Amino acid sequence: MKNIVVANLKMNILSVLEREVYLKGLDKELIGKKFSDTEIVICPPFIHLEGLGKWKNKKISRGALDVFWEDKGSFTGEISPVMLKNFGCEYVVLGHSERRRFLRENDQDVNLKIIAALRNGISPVLCVGEDANQKNEGAGVIIKQLKNCLAGIKNGQIENVVICYEPVWAISSNNPDHLPTTNDVMSARLIIKKFLVGEYGLRVSEKIRIIYGGSVAPNNAKEICVDSGMKGALVGKESLTPRSFIKIVEIING
Ligand code: 13P
Repeated sequence: MKNIVVANLKMNILSVLEREVYLKGLDKELIGKKFSDTEIVICPPFIHLEGLGKWKNKKISRGALDVFWEDKGSFTGEISPVMLKNFGCEYVVLGHSERRRFLRENDQDVNLKIIAALRNGISPVLCVGEDANQKNEGAGVIIKQLKNCLAGIKNGQIENVVICYEPVWAISSNNPDHLPTTNDVMSARLIIKKFLVGEYGLRVSEKIRIIYGGSVAPNNAKEICVDSGMKGALVGKESLTPRSFIKIVEIING
């Protein structure tokens, strides 16, 4: 099972020109590099998906940052999983804390979106994690989110879900005190793993990738993502700088 490093470009890259510069930067950083153990995924705002599809670089897969739970119809402003599939998306980030916070998305919404993505052959990257006020009840929060968001997802489907432990308090942090330790991340990984083993059995759980997100940078990727036994990372800010992002990929690839 390969590692996976996912770029969450959030609401950045504001023009076609900016996108071209960004993609050229990635091309440059990737010259002569091969990451046989790691899949790289770029998730831009929807509007850039077509442009990324025309990009010659085939070392990188594409993903989206949201999806609606119906395939087609009168749902003004929403994006269908069929559209994502037709535009070459293989992944979609779901359950991100920023959508929970600013758009009031809840676990039930996320569950419907996961079902819709899987129905259309798109792999969800499901984000779970406690916020600063829930630090003392971290395990309970993570398990509740997993239970709710994965309701009805069966063996045969769950292997296509990537679970990302993303403690909300560690997102976009410039403060080293707001970063989890290797042990914190390892504990969260074990909580998630135990849940998956309980729900899907050991053999299936071994096929599910568990990754880490929250202020991942070249100077902490080894400690937080590799030493903790995670299978990759979901990268926000540092994914906007091609050099930093590919450095993180290198570290995770080992
Ligand atoms: P930062 O890497 O900027 O903390 O963002 C993390 C994140 O939200 C990825 O989904």
